[in-house]
Amino acid sequence: MLMKSNSFAMMMNLLGAILLVSIASVANALTKNDFPPHFLFGASTSAYQVEGAANEDGRKPSILDTFAHAGNGGLFKGDGDIASDQYHKYKDDVKLMAEMGLDAYRFSISWSRLIPDGRGPINPKGLEYYNKLINELTSQGIQAHVTLHHWDLPQTLEDEYGGWVSRRIIKDFTAYADVCFREFGDRVKHWTTVNEGNVESLEGYDLGFLAPQRCSPSSMSNCSKGNSSTEPYLVTHHMLLSHASAAKLYRTKYKAKQRGLIGFNILGFGLLPLTNTSEDIIATKRAQDFLIGWYMNPFIFGEYPDSMKNDVGSRLPYFTARESSLVKGSIDFLGFNFYYALYIKNNPKSVQKENRYTSDMAVEFKPYTGIGTPTDEIPVIPWVLEGLLHSLKNDYGNFPIYIHEIGQKTSRNSSLDDWSRVKSMHVYIGSLLDMLRNGLNIRGCFVWSFLDVFELLYGYEKSYGLYFIDMKDPTLRRQPKLSSVWYSNFLNNRIMDSKITMKIEEKSSISNTSLMHATT
Ligand SMILES: *[C@@H]1O[C@H](CO)[C@@H](O)[C@H](O)[C@H]1NC(C)=O
Ligand SMILES: *[C@@H]1O[C@H](CO)[C@@H](O)[C@H](O)[C@H]1NC(C)=O
Ligand SMILES: *[C@@H]1O[C@H](CO)[C@@H](O)[C@H](O)[C@H]1NC(C)=O
Ligand SMILES: *[C@@H]1O[C@H](CO)[C@@H](O)[C@H](O)[C@H]1NC(C)=O
Ligand SMILES: *[C@@H]1O[C@H](CO)[C@@H](O)[C@H](O)[C@H]1NC(C)=O
Repeated sequence: MLMKSNSFAMMMNLLGAILLVSIASVANALTKNDFPPHFLFGASTSAYQVEGAANEDGRKPSILDTFAHAGNGGLFKGDGDIASDQYHKYKDDVKLMAEMGLDAYRFSISWSRLIPDGRGPINPKGLEYYNKLINELTSQGIQAHVTLHHWDLPQTLEDEYGGWVSRRIIKDFTAYADVCFREFGDRVKHWTTVNEGNVESLEGYDLGFLAPQRCSPSSMSNCSKGNSSTEPYLVTHHMLLSHASAAKLYRTKYKAKQRGLIGFNILGFGLLPLTNTSEDIIATKRAQDFLIGWYMNPFIFGEYPDSMKNDVGSRLPYFTARESSLVKGSIDFLGFNFYYALYIKNNPKSVQKENRYTSDMAVEFKPYTGIGTPTDEIPVIPWVLEGLLHSLKNDYGNFPIYIHEIGQKTSRNSSLDDWSRVKSMHVYIGSLLDMLRNGLNIRGCFVWSFLDVFELLYGYEKSYGLYFIDMKDPTLRRQPKLSSVWYSNFLNNRIMDSKITMKIEEKSSISNTSLMHATT
């Protein structure tokens, strides 16, 4: 008996060891230790989407408050009045971030909390809140990566002069940035002036789906104001000049002492030609000029892409020589958000009925839905992201990039076992290793979103968070999803639970080989 049970135990041990080795060989293939020591991992949120306390302590509305309270053009129900209540729960949230092992937290400052009317007096309670949040982060060794404008322009400036449509925004934005650099710059070393400037111009001023809902009348949206043929271009122009003005201020007044970096964020659409015809290939290049070159050409070369100058003509604002040299070279890094890919089909200008930004592009878009991806999930397409980043490297040089957002969407109330999000993080983070080996200058990666927030396209119906918040629970308790366990294991170099590793493979619509490829 003794003999038998001994050999049985030995056998079990051996089996266990083999199992452990094979699991470890997969799990160990992906931990933070595989990355260069200074590569940052973080998570993102934005002020209106996470803070709540919208009417507290002197904060005044932004255009997002107005948009949400007006019923969002029927996109979703809800508003950010309470959101994730981070305004009151920031200490607990930073504790969760520290336990998770985040290197950095990307959040934004609510301009109308800090300076309620957009210009003029500073709100002492707003100043106090951001100081407390930043101090809490730094005391836990978590870097604060701060965005100044994340869709939420003070409503007062919108009412007074049309916000980004007017040149007057440049002066007010620069003064706001000055306050932030002066008050927080001793602790904040990564500033992003504007989030997704390209999408804000497109959705807010051409299509009119999102705040401030300005557009020309069309069958697609009911805007009471706006002009889709001119305003998207004006808005981007003023964002570029506001950024450049703030960057110049930072470099002349603060940089020597504070030693920080200043960047700009855009949404990186993956663009794929629908067919291999030269028309569609040229159209895809043109769409990339309109969506990305619109910002990158000015930042790198000091002027808009030729394709835009040709197609938009006199509706495209121009830079004076002085402005051109101010904008050129004004980013230390690019912040890049990545979710979707689109197929591009040529759609000649001659057949377009109107002059608007999306028509000027002269393309038709068709969403890339992935092969075998459930309709509700965002396809996981690291090769598209890598292709896009290589094309930016070819066109603009190998400047530093932070992936500011990647993420997966699920129903807000779905299971805490968010396998689709685990899979997405596993594959994207694994693929970053390939991208670094292939020479891309990526400095860090942030997951959208740290916890469930008020989503700009989905309200509280869908979410991207690593932590679930049940809006019906008055305490808004943060409940860890499986993705938070996965990220925490990865960040702390812990061998992952075998059940997780095997389930990732089982749940993955990506073959084992490509999964292995992505992780080795
Ligand atoms: C938009 O502005 C252009 C140029 O000023 C003008 O010709 C056009 O009529 C305007 N469109 C609308 C819808 O107001
Ligand atoms: C625009 O408003 C009208 C009147 O309220 C409504 O009937 C129509 O459905 C709306 N169109 C869109 C695209 O929201
Ligand atoms: C385009 O050509 C490439 C390379 O020849 C091929 O792999 C791809 O399937 C083609 N795509 C289409 C849409 O025909
Ligand atoms: C989750 O939310 C969706 C959409 O709001 C709803 O249809 C569904 O019944 C909800 N499921 C549960 C389990 O509450
Ligand atoms: C991965 O490989 C295992 C073992 O060979 C297999 O059981 C599993 O079905 C594979 N998964 C996928 C997604 O192909």
